[in-house]
Amino acid sequence: MARQVLSGATLACPTLPAPVRDGAVAVEGDRIRWAGPAAEMPQDLADWPRRDLGGRLVTPAPIDCHTHIVHAGSRAREFEMRLQGASYAEIARAGGGILSTVTATRGASEAALLAEALPRVDALIAEGVCTLEVKSGYGLDRETELRMLRVARAIGAARPVRVRTSYLGAHAVPPGADADAYIDDICIPTLRAAHAEGLVDAVDGFCEGIAFDTSQIARVFEAAGALGLPVKLHAEQLSQMGGTALAARHGALSADHVEYATEDDARALAAAGTVAVLLPGAFYTLRETQAPPVAAFRAHGVAMALSTDCNPGSSPMTSILLAMNMGCTLFGLTPAEALAGVTVHAARALGLEDCGRIAPGLRADLAVWDVGDPAELAWRIGFNPLHMRLFGGMAC
Ligand code: NIG
Ligand code: FE
Repeated sequence: MARQVLSGATLACPTLPAPVRDGAVAVEGDRIRWAGPAAEMPQDLADWPRRDLGGRLVTPAPIDCHTHIVHAGSRAREFEMRLQGASYAEIARAGGGILSTVTATRGASEAALLAEALPRVDALIAEGVCTLEVKSGYGLDRETELRMLRVARAIGAARPVRVRTSYLGAHAVPPGADADAYIDDICIPTLRAAHAEGLVDAVDGFCEGIAFDTSQIARVFEAAGALGLPVKLHAEQLSQMGGTALAARHGALSADHVEYATEDDARALAAAGTVAVLLPGAFYTLRETQAPPVAAFRAHGVAMALSTDCNPGSSPMTSILLAMNMGCTLFGLTPAEALAGVTVHAARALGLEDCGRIAPGLRADLAVWDVGDPAELAWRIGFNPLHMRLFGGMAC
């Protein structure tokens, strides 16, 4: 098994109170064997091959825990309409928005969807991302939903990145369909088919006036529970619908967006151990004014993750570093919270316990940065200081 010690490192792990200067990480195969101050390194690691990092910063590799990265078509026209004053909800009600991407995605082959997604995936990998969540939800029919999930799995085969899939059949009501009939006759049966093919790691939904209400989402969650699948939810993005409370009642991995969540919602998320996934790219793009209740999340001990929400409509963003910057500038997170948001808490939002921290036994998914202080990761805009990425112990 390949062994090496990364020495001369400044270790910044969100679960440590302060960066460790003059640190070392011992990597064996795809795992971290040991990490800490070089002076305390166990004797039996002393003769392992060394790579000196010259004081560079080492963090857990970023995890992008909420993306719609598999999609076809452009929404640039809709961007122009919003600049002229149309709202996201107005465009959606007029048949644009998510439904326009549904039309384009239904018409795209598996190969075409993969070819469109890979440059976006590469942009995230270039910033050190080692784990990526990918949602379906632009098919809204059995064939296309399954195709999207197969493409998501294919990303993990085509690139050195770990992919977690979320089935998002409950993303929008297909044109001309009745919402209840769609949930019962298409969305839930398609979930079962996707699960039977091993395509689903978690089940998601969009609880919103322009999508589904809590009783419709609850039926999807019950079907997920019967299959033993964890759930998560787009909740309280544009209005207060009760989705966050519903997610907490179902022990969801995460409630995402949560701009309109209340103090009671924060309490419920904390009690359920559900992560709040903050998506500042969507808040920015839609020029929203209601920021998520970060102070209440802090006060109640809700874990806050950050993600790009990469999608063609509300967040056409492929930069996890920009998500960190926006989390600080728009939502008031500290740079340390932003780093925790794309590492340890993002892992939890995906139900993963083997990544997101620098600790013995965990995957050696690490990012080495040309910066001296972790706050620099969230500080600059449009600058990528990644020096090297280790994916399961492999520099690539
Ligand atoms: O996370 N909120 C719903 N879903 C996506 C938007 C998808 C789209 O506009 O195409 C989101 O913001
Ligand atoms: Fe989303």
